[in-house]
Amino acid sequence: MVVIPELTAPTPDVLRGSENSAAAAAAASLSAVQGRPEMAVEIRDFDFAYTEELALEDVTLDIPAHRVTALIGPSGCGKSTLLRCINRMNDLIPGAGVRRGSIRVQGEEILGRTVDVIALRKYIGMVFQKYNPFPTSIFENVAYGLRISGLSNRRALADAVERSLRRAALWEETKDRLHEGALSLSGGQQQRLCIARTIAVDPKIILMDEPCSALDPIATAKVEELITDLRSDYTIVIVTHNMQQATRVSDRTAFFYVGKLVEEGETMKMFTRPEKKETEDYVSGKFG
Ligand SMILES: Nc1ncnc2c1ncn2[C@@H]1O[C@H](COP(=O)(O)OP(=O)(O)O)[C@@H](O)[C@H]1O
Ligand SMILES: [Mg+2]
Repeated sequence: MVVIPELTAPTPDVLRGSENSAAAAAAASLSAVQGRPEMAVEIRDFDFAYTEELALEDVTLDIPAHRVTALIGPSGCGKSTLLRCINRMNDLIPGAGVRRGSIRVQGEEILGRTVDVIALRKYIGMVFQKYNPFPTSIFENVAYGLRISGLSNRRALADAVERSLRRAALWEETKDRLHEGALSLSGGQQQRLCIARTIAVDPKIILMDEPCSALDPIATAKVEELITDLRSDYTIVIVTHNMQQATRVSDRTAFFYVGKLVEEGETMKMFTRPEKKETEDYVSGKFG
């Protein structure tokens, strides 16, 4: 097994909670000078396995900041695994682990043992397929992460909750019922509440694993509109099985097949002029 050199690297500043580390700022200005779009996540030569067999093999992928990147591919090809690696949610699965490669977030390695995983998960929020609000009030769902971070002032909490609900396009529907149970909301509202809860702790990157697959078309359209709107403030990575959705919401698309990244590029190009035959077959619905 190849040892990951960064395992012994010191904890990057960005993951200690100070979001504007000098290194990240320098990297950003350097890339601006060189004309390269800023990369929020850089995945290199990445292998991951749950058991012996690799679930992800030799994945190299750049995820640009302030863009929506869609991960597509048939079931079981490793899309969710990759998302969970980006915020280290696979850490606790016995025997599972990174076998090779690196993942950098804002230029800083995140796979090392010394990385503050709690800070990382604040920086990189996650929204799941099955919306999962806590069985508490609408208000408390959004306030939860803020309270954990030590915010207790009532006025400040109320302001932050309102701000997050507005940002998630849910304020108008909930402002008169903030203290009602979150589970009384419709499915689409519950998913937008989960997005508000994620936004509340001020992440820079939001990972979404099939966020609309449990929603009806109207609720789906609202979440898609929200994703497009959030792009100005966040970097978004979305796993979707819905090809139309990928074309509607994403700037870039990455196509995975049995653990490997087959092709990635601008969404328009991936759907109209892909370079690989497998990509063309998949996006045109021949398999998957
Ligand atoms: N917790 C787990 N333990 C063992 N194997 C897993 C686990 N989660 C996923 N896998 C396996 O890893 C592969 C990729 O799965 P996944 O990332 O869920 O694919 P996708 O999201 O593309 O459907 C599959 O073969 C799946 O069975
Ligand atoms: Mg999945």
